[in-house]
Amino acid sequence: MQFETIPHPSPMADDAREAAIADPGFGTVFTDHMVTIDYDEGAEGSVGGGWHSPRIGPREPIALDPAASVLHYAQEIFEGMKAYRLADGELALFRPEENARRFNASARRMAMPELPEELFLEAVNKAVTADAKWFPSVEGGSLYIRPFMFATEAFLGVRPAKQYKFIVILSAAGNYFKSGSPAVSIWQSEYTRAAPGGTGAAKTGGNYAASLVPTGEAFKRGHDQVLFLDAVEKKWVEELGGMNLFFVMRDGSVVTPPLTGTILPGITRNSLITLLGEEGLSVREEPYSIQQWRSDAASGDLVEVMACGTAAVVTPVGKVDSADGEFVIGNGGPGAVTSKIREKLVGIQRGSVDDTHGWVKLVG
Ligand code: PLP
Ligand code: COI
Repeated sequence: MQFETIPHPSPMADDAREAAIADPGFGTVFTDHMVTIDYDEGAEGSVGGGWHSPRIGPREPIALDPAASVLHYAQEIFEGMKAYRLADGELALFRPEENARRFNASARRMAMPELPEELFLEAVNKAVTADAKWFPSVEGGSLYIRPFMFATEAFLGVRPAKQYKFIVILSAAGNYFKSGSPAVSIWQSEYTRAAPGGTGAAKTGGNYAASLVPTGEAFKRGHDQVLFLDAVEKKWVEELGGMNLFFVMRDGSVVTPPLTGTILPGITRNSLITLLGEEGLSVREEPYSIQQWRSDAASGDLVEVMACGTAAVVTPVGKVDSADGEFVIGNGGPGAVTSKIREKLVGIQRGSVDDTHGWVKLVG
């Protein structure tokens, strides 16, 4: 499919852009362009059953019919990925085909059309290429990439829509956590995020909507993230609002909750399982209870906990608070395994550590 290029009438002036990306934080500084692809069931000359009119143009508001089904029944999915700058100045993506694959897994769960993986990757590459000069030069900076899809059909009956939009926007990003603290502090919520058979493994807006009240509670109490337990027994550790968890034990083993359909199958999680194995640590994907966490932290059997995700990278968890009171992990700061694995991951992503797995893909 041929992408149309719509010229930008007024991209941001160089000095204004430089000021905007000097200290971008996370999620508020957006670039000049966006990619859009439309879907109409059975559209003529389309690919993948109806994708058509791919274009890159100015980032701008979207006109939507007030009956657009996403506004009523939340048929929406998204991805989160980053472009990194390699030592030689080139921009690269980390395992982008995994995001394309997960996007389609989310699409299937939400009764939405799949987007051919090549088209997803081409859209991402085109967006990053168009706005490469928005790459922030701050330490740890990246271009955060947000591909998403939603139902645009004007129809109030409850059924899968027949029209969708796929869009890619970009945001200059620094650190996700603004506290700047060496370890994050989390709040164990009484609310649950996802039940068996639900949408927990899909990256769909509704999961995040459900997390906002507990996240608000966490923030109000001075914590950085919310921790969710399983919805059935309210016992097993699942994940944080936007990150997966790893538990590093004193005996050198590592535990991470298994992918049972109620947590997001993180690409960072998958990468860490490989990297930890290479460091000689055996990773067990098995259930870990909050009681066990508390008692292992107290006994010292648990030495480190890390939270990981695209936005958060690898971040130590220092402290857990809940209705049952607070406990600290290790010395409450970053531990040796967390620091080492973070360095290795970031090194691969930014080209200073050998990419033996072929995870890094140059943009273009
Ligand atoms: N869990 C949730 C709920 C998330 O939103 C994310 C972030 O995307 C992750 C885990 C980590 O996934 P990934 O490593 O693919 O970014
Ligand atoms: C990501 O890590 O990309 C996410 O989507 C998490 C989100 C909470 C920012």
